[in-house]
Amino acid sequence: MSKSTRDAEGRAILEARGITKVFGSGDIEIKVLKGVNMQLRAGELTLLMGPSGSGKTTLLSILGCILSPTDGELVINGSSTRGLNAEGLADLRRKQVGFVFQSYNLFPTLTAVENVLLALDVRGSGAENAHAQAEDALKSVGLAHRIHAYPKKLSGGEKQRVAIARALAGSPSVILADEPTAALDSENGAAVMALLSEVGKDPNRAVLAVTHDHRTLSYADRIIVIEDGRIVDSRRNDGAANEGSKSHAVN
Ligand SMILES: Nc1ncnc2c1ncn2[C@@H]1O[C@H](COP(=O)(O)OP(=O)(O)O)[C@@H](O)[C@H]1O
Ligand SMILES: [Mg+2]
Repeated sequence: MSKSTRDAEGRAILEARGITKVFGSGDIEIKVLKGVNMQLRAGELTLLMGPSGSGKTTLLSILGCILSPTDGELVINGSSTRGLNAEGLADLRRKQVGFVFQSYNLFPTLTAVENVLLALDVRGSGAENAHAQAEDALKSVGLAHRIHAYPKKLSGGEKQRVAIARALAGSPSVILADEPTAALDSENGAAVMALLSEVGKDPNRAVLAVTHDHRTLSYADRIIVIEDGRIVDSRRNDGAANEGSKSHAVN
């Protein structure tokens, strides 16, 4: 699973600058993010790791324009969030961001292809070739044979692949996944990480996955560690899955 480190670093597709987030007010004010600066680069799968409660989901929600930061700015593919109202933020999200959740979040009454079509509709993609786009997205995650299956007929791994197809439909530049392997056994978890790594190789896309699972480390191009609302480490992963190894592969 080792990845080439010789490639030039991709451009920043998403940049977070001085992001803070405070929940509540007065005596019950909690500062969850304390000035986060980070970049997601084109052609990379970045893993965001950190203890429970460190702010991972809050940060992911802000990076995905679901939640507004208290302070700070995002630049996604050249568009800044500064000064955007809720509608502007939602528009940026629809155009630029695809989400994958731990619990898949598929509509049980819709087939795989209908779940993907719904996402395309929400993005405002033209209906003309929407069906072909949805089928292509499912084919790209290896589910050509399950296009018309309902979620209850799919395994956990297959459901997560539908969710990834749904996130990919409409070709957003950023894919954000919150603990995408947490509900999967190790075999399906590995397949989902391999798929996210593949998806992240697109030179026009960046992928970020929150994970607790150290078995996912070997898939990462970059690892960012958050603790208590602050980024405490951010480094390129040179493909060494063995813990503690600081050696940098040259070839
Ligand atoms: N909507 C909210 N209102 C108040 N506190 C929140 C809210 N969302 C998250 N928090 C708090 O922010 C902290 C970080 O939560 P979260 O981002 O979910 O962390 P993680 O995903 O790393 O476990 C936790 O202490 C959590 O209780
Ligand atoms: Mg979380």
